[in-house]
Amino acid sequence: MSADVLSLGGSRDPDACPLGLCDGSGFVVDEATNTASDCRCRASRIARKRAASLEGRIPKRYRGASFDRPPVLGMPEPVVSAVRAYVRNLNARLQEGRGMWLVGDVGTGKTTLAMIVSGAALEAGHSVAIYSLPRLLNLIRDEVGTDNSLLDLLDRLSCVDLLHIDDLGAQHTTPWRLEQLYSIIDARYQSGRPIVATTNLMPDELAGQMGRRTLTTTVSEGGAGESSEERRVVSDDASEVVGRRIVSRLIEMCGDPLPLYGEDKRRELPVMARPA
Ligand SMILES: Nc1ncnc2c1ncn2[C@@H]1O[C@H](COP(=O)(O)OP(=O)(O)OP(=O)(O)O)[C@@H](O)[C@H]1O
Ligand SMILES: [Mg+2]
Ligand SMILES: [Zn+2]
Repeated sequence: MSADVLSLGGSRDPDACPLGLCDGSGFVVDEATNTASDCRCRASRIARKRAASLEGRIPKRYRGASFDRPPVLGMPEPVVSAVRAYVRNLNARLQEGRGMWLVGDVGTGKTTLAMIVSGAALEAGHSVAIYSLPRLLNLIRDEVGTDNSLLDLLDRLSCVDLLHIDDLGAQHTTPWRLEQLYSIIDARYQSGRPIVATTNLMPDELAGQMGRRTLTTTVSEGGAGESSEERRVVSDDASEVVGRRIVSRLIEMCGDPLPLYGEDKRRELPVMARPA
């Protein structure tokens, strides 16, 4: 991932030393002794790099979203008001670790509203990581076995000012990945760092869904050594406890979920867009 995923503003050359002390490397070299020591810019340089390697951009589809335009103008007023109030007090909310979550039917505008919140946070100069849950879980899976990179990723996701998780509960996962997700959410819970999330499931359903997983077994069919894969969805008690722990923390951090129910607006779009 490139360093441009997060817009942090500032000088024209993002790598230049803001203090004018080092060559942009974060180290100051003492010519006389030929030794390098940390530049005073190094800590902020590291912090910026860490945040920059997370996905911190509003996806193209949601980039123009705003309170004073469709589709938000057509969304239920109580929910829009609650999101508007959150954005109005954004800095205070983020500071106190207060998040927000939107729950409801497919295609009712949950992601649109959540992206407005993330966009406002980016605009205000906060570091924001935006992931759909399936993507986040794949990212975690891909870091396995590469020494400290998994710990490093979990640490970055735990420390970013705002973590936006889209489509919570959209997918069955493995107990191990669910544990990693729990560790991120618990770290944020412990340190009072907020989460914005969207989901199709009410809290109790969400906990149950997280406890379910797809079991893949290889079935040998004898003969020429042929085999096939069999997939079953099974309930896992231990994972269900982890799911409940995650949901319990979300409720405390985000309060009651904002409900967005109704028809799937995506189904109406092609009709609306059809030329006369
Ligand atoms: N109230 C509305 N009026 C008109 N269009 C809407 C409304 N709500 C959402 N849309 C449009 O429907 C599409 C889906 O919106 P969005 O992705 O925010 O939904 P979602 O609730 O996150 O869906 P999912 O549960 O599938 O993730 C977008 O194109 C959006 O502009
Ligand atoms: Mg969505
Ligand atoms: Zn420097």
